[in-house]
Amino acid sequence: MPIQYFEETRLFCLTTATTAYLFQISPNEQPLHLYWGAKLPRIEDYPLAPPDRQHSSFNATLHQNMSEYLCRNSIAEYEPALRVTFADGTRDIRLKYLSHRIEGESLSVKLADIYYTLELTLEYRVIPECDMLARRVTVYNAGQAPFTLEQVLSASLPLALDRGEYRLTHLAGAWACETLLERCAITPGRKVLEGRLNYSGHAANPFFALDLVDSAGQGAGENIGEVYFGALQWSGNWKIVIEQERAAGKRTRVAGGINDFEFSWQLGASESFETPWLVLGYSDAGFGKMSRNLHRYVSEQLLPPQFAHELRPVLYNSWEAVFFEVNEAAQISLAEKAAKLGAEVFVVDDGWFGERHSDHAALGDWQPNPVKFPNGLKPLIAKVNELGMDFGLWVEPEMVNPDSDLYRAHPEWAYHYPNREPITGRNQLMLNLCREDVQLWMLGWLDALLSEHNIRYVKWDYNRAISEMGWVEGAQSEIPVRHVHALYRIVAQLRAKHPQVLFEACSGGGGRADMGMLAHFDHVWTSDNTDPLDRLLIQQGYSLVYPPKTMYCWVTSTDWNRGNYPIRYRFHSSFMGALGIGTDLNSMSEQDLAEAAALVAQYKQLRPIIQQGNFYRLTPLGEEEVLAYQYQREGEGVILAFGQRYHFWKFLNRLRLYGLETEALYQLEGDLMEGEPHLLSGKALMRRGLVPKLERALNSALITLHKI
Ligand code: DGJ
Repeated sequence: MPIQYFEETRLFCLTTATTAYLFQISPNEQPLHLYWGAKLPRIEDYPLAPPDRQHSSFNATLHQNMSEYLCRNSIAEYEPALRVTFADGTRDIRLKYLSHRIEGESLSVKLADIYYTLELTLEYRVIPECDMLARRVTVYNAGQAPFTLEQVLSASLPLALDRGEYRLTHLAGAWACETLLERCAITPGRKVLEGRLNYSGHAANPFFALDLVDSAGQGAGENIGEVYFGALQWSGNWKIVIEQERAAGKRTRVAGGINDFEFSWQLGASESFETPWLVLGYSDAGFGKMSRNLHRYVSEQLLPPQFAHELRPVLYNSWEAVFFEVNEAAQISLAEKAAKLGAEVFVVDDGWFGERHSDHAALGDWQPNPVKFPNGLKPLIAKVNELGMDFGLWVEPEMVNPDSDLYRAHPEWAYHYPNREPITGRNQLMLNLCREDVQLWMLGWLDALLSEHNIRYVKWDYNRAISEMGWVEGAQSEIPVRHVHALYRIVAQLRAKHPQVLFEACSGGGGRADMGMLAHFDHVWTSDNTDPLDRLLIQQGYSLVYPPKTMYCWVTSTDWNRGNYPIRYRFHSSFMGALGIGTDLNSMSEQDLAEAAALVAQYKQLRPIIQQGNFYRLTPLGEEEVLAYQYQREGEGVILAFGQRYHFWKFLNRLRLYGLETEALYQLEGDLMEGEPHLLSGKALMRRGLVPKLERALNSALITLHKI
């Protein structure tokens, strides 16, 4: 039973395969958080609420700070998850437990204000097989007088007391360096991770991990130690707040959800507001187990079902080869070469529509350019199909260039303030997706495009952060939520009508890598930075949270670091996820094309293991000199190892493998160091390990594992 309620103690106990999460309704009808961590043998083993106390008149009481969902009342020592202003100006929320409902793996607990008409439902979804649970809330106005929501987070909770110190691991970056690993100690004060530019963002990713640091200063490792983690299923403004108070015995609280930045929401009579889910997990076996649980959750619970269990195709994308200079003849010439390489989808990127010759014009004019494609896209699509590939197309539906027919006809469709010149970014403005006419227009042209053409792949881009959230006739403070809801709705409608189409989420690379997008899109374009060395760190961060199969990795000839990388190294770096090719195929020699074709063929053979296997980091997180990964699917494994900055004095540590059968024998093939055995038992591989052949900088090794 994943959810149990004990009437006598008014205790809720939520359990997954190895974890438990408990809270209790106190005698004064408050839900108090009690425990989150390893599952214990007996219900009596878990702590109950201690008597309430108060450190001083400068502090809230212990019970207030133990709240299962902290609302704005009393002394706001910690981030309140819920802040409202009632019609009479009152900002104080006093809730009491009303009722609860358990339905299989879902629990809802209803609370109501003692005077005003606000009702709050705490919702829980237990995901036993992923060892995780998800939380969100719904606020309901049961009366006539409207009130204003000023902050409504998905969840807030205290972490266990007296359990040592916490270290925060999170992902941060910028354009072309997304999802880089960051770590810091949690000390008294607040740490806020957030996105407030109308997308989840390049700068920070809506994810956190807090591992326990022991008295010797040792935190969790790849396979040992305790880690609490969470990720928000939301693609708009978000925040995750981690804060610690010294007075309360260094109690640490975490809260996360939609950012309150320039946000408020009028809740009228009988209206409700539902937050996105915050998924939460606890690992008692380090960051490796955390990542595998998150990957399983995305793969099995979150991804749109059509392609959730399908292999991602090898794609060719012409962006880095030709940028805006797309036309029928040049694309056909690239398509012929891409087909020979083994590409399965041919994607035409930016530049195919309107007067789009640079990034200065035409966003909004979604008709093929009549000079570049005199007979429309159909002849190119037919050729691509004839070559045995599916056809894909780039779009950026949420944007408009001032220099476009659309903007000339509908300047009011872009977010703007009445007495201000609109601020462009990449020469474009953002369409006001909160408007119904904009939504209908967008759905209309996309639906027509997909209905009239044999398109099997859509790359949905989003190339600027918002500047002004201006909406003259509408509720401006609701934009951050309404925009994202409209985006999700439109994509869901398109998917329902065109179930054969794969959707890629892109925002100038990986600016929209989040669980909200992965509930609607099949995968993510990880970064515009396609340098194979830089990519290793970006991909290390991405794969910490999201499964490798959702991470597209292109092989290109662009060397952001002028690295002069061997072709093999470029491919091995891109083997880490779903493989794409973005090289200018016209500039490759016959010899290089043949090597590339052989590598594509090898990837296709290994793809079920890479895309559907379990993922193990063989080198510690944060390590930069040598990075190694194992993908294991039953008896078949792939090891990828990269020497990045390999010092003269450095000896390569043996890499210990994971997830093997101890007694079984495994045949090893590929880049093993001279003298390494090619046949070893699972136990030997997991204990003694192996040494890949990595002799100099920018060298990579690929080893396969086959159970015999
Ligand atoms: C940003 C994307 O990340 C690139 O891959 C490419 O599609 C360009 N936009 C096109 O403008």
